[in-house]
Amino acid sequence: MDKAMFELARGAMAKAHAPYSRFRVGAVVKGANGRLYAGCNVENAAYPEGCCAETSAIAAMVMDGESKIVEVLVMGGGEGLVTPCGGCRQRIREFATDDAPIHICSPDELRRTVTLGELLPLSFGPENLA
Ligand code: THU
Repeated sequence: MDKAMFELARGAMAKAHAPYSRFRVGAVVKGANGRLYAGCNVENAAYPEGCCAETSAIAAMVMDGESKIVEVLVMGGGEGLVTPCGGCRQRIREFATDDAPIHICSPDELRRTVTLGELLPLSFGPENLA
């Protein structure tokens, strides 16, 4: 994980729209093109309509014409590890392979690195439909 990725996530986390949970999350995905795409969680007064930081980072990547994720960073506060939720694990899977590293960070430091395969074993993906 490079420092640029970490700093970008910090900036994204600061921009979160999280007036309901007050839980800010920033995420950065690195495309196969080497570019970094950031996102934050965007909550909604109609609670289920909110979206996760990973989701908005992926949307930014797709809008830039990239379709392969090679690395992910998720940043959140609190004591527990802020790992991608179940839905976001599957969203990442759409664009990444099992060996893609996912860095779990607090705003201060890298706490743990896992692979997508560890978070979402035996996953269903685009290859199943090929
Ligand atoms: N959240 C994320 O954005 N990403 C995660 O990996 C975990 C949870 C958001 C969703 C919601 O806005 C807030 O955190 C509390 O669940």
